[in-house]
Amino acid sequence: MQTAPPASLEARALVKRYGDVTAVDHLSFQVTAGIVTGFLGPNGAGKSTTLRMFLGLDRPTSGAATIGGHPLADLPQPMHVVGAMLAADTVHPRRSATDHLAAVARAGGVPRRRVAEVLELVGLADEGHRPAGDYSLGMKQRLGIATALIGDPGILIFDEPLNGLDPEGIRWARSLMRDLAAEGRTVLFSSHLMGEMELTADHLVVIHHGKLLADQPLSAFIADHTSEYVRARTPNRDGLDDALSREGLRAVPDLGCADALAVVGTTTDRVGHVANVSGIELSELTLVRDSLEDAFLTMTATEHEAAR
Ligand SMILES: Nc1ncnc2c1ncn2[C@@H]1O[C@H](COP(=O)(O)OP(=O)(O)OP(=O)(O)O)[C@@H](O)[C@H]1O
Ligand SMILES: [Mg+2]
Repeated sequence: MQTAPPASLEARALVKRYGDVTAVDHLSFQVTAGIVTGFLGPNGAGKSTTLRMFLGLDRPTSGAATIGGHPLADLPQPMHVVGAMLAADTVHPRRSATDHLAAVARAGGVPRRRVAEVLELVGLADEGHRPAGDYSLGMKQRLGIATALIGDPGILIFDEPLNGLDPEGIRWARSLMRDLAAEGRTVLFSSHLMGEMELTADHLVVIHHGKLLADQPLSAFIADHTSEYVRARTPNRDGLDDALSREGLRAVPDLGCADALAVVGTTTDRVGHVANVSGIELSELTLVRDSLEDAFLTMTATEHEAAR
């Protein structure tokens, strides 16, 4: 029997306690190559703590966080295997971005020419000479991403990479993460905002109070946690209600919209057809879906209640 290659990143029964606080609570999940995995959880959920344990910056209380099956400390050339951006302000403020990257490259055995390459890649080619302390928040984020990429690693870990970026920067960071994954790399990035995940991640690992809430493809998360219905506005609500129920469709008044019905378990095409053959005028026919942000908030609130 062939054994599967080890997952790029794996948390196994991972626990981290700080005194009385359990930041990470028996967390197990795997992250695979070739897709973007979103690590989602509200503030204080334990995301940064987990990422720090992958990078050997925090010791697990118990359990393991491994890279390619090994703890980071066992990797001979870690900078070529994994690159990370944790906090954007770990650069000496008076050092230029170029000097900072050159020092990181030297320490990791990376050729000096990579400095110009990664500055170009993150859109800082013309700003490399400036002291990093003078950078805006978004520029610091870009420098952090450049630092993560310097060793051309196959695994990338980004903690809240979209924080502080302007709309153009967010679009850029998203497509960078997607491109890195499309090259076959492993990309794990955290956020406390579901909306940020929606356009970027293929797979979601959701945690709350250090515990795993979901580990599934984004599409499955959407199917499992959001509901949708057809909104039909009409001057003849009772008539439409009768026509729908004759077809075995269940409609209820659409809250917040006096002349509308909400019809579940069907399509706009079907409701439109029923209205048409019954000679009922429609002034709106829309498929309404809860936002993913709502789904995420409901999910974490439910878990919170259950924990009490
Ligand atoms: N060094 C530390 N000492 C004590 N408690 C800590 C330490 N680091 C984290 N914690 C606690 O662990 C919990 C998880 O924190 P963590 O920073 O991992 O959350 P997070 O999911 O990254 O949140 P955010 O979205 O705000 O970044 C919090 O209760 C936090 O106060
Ligand atoms: Mg954090």
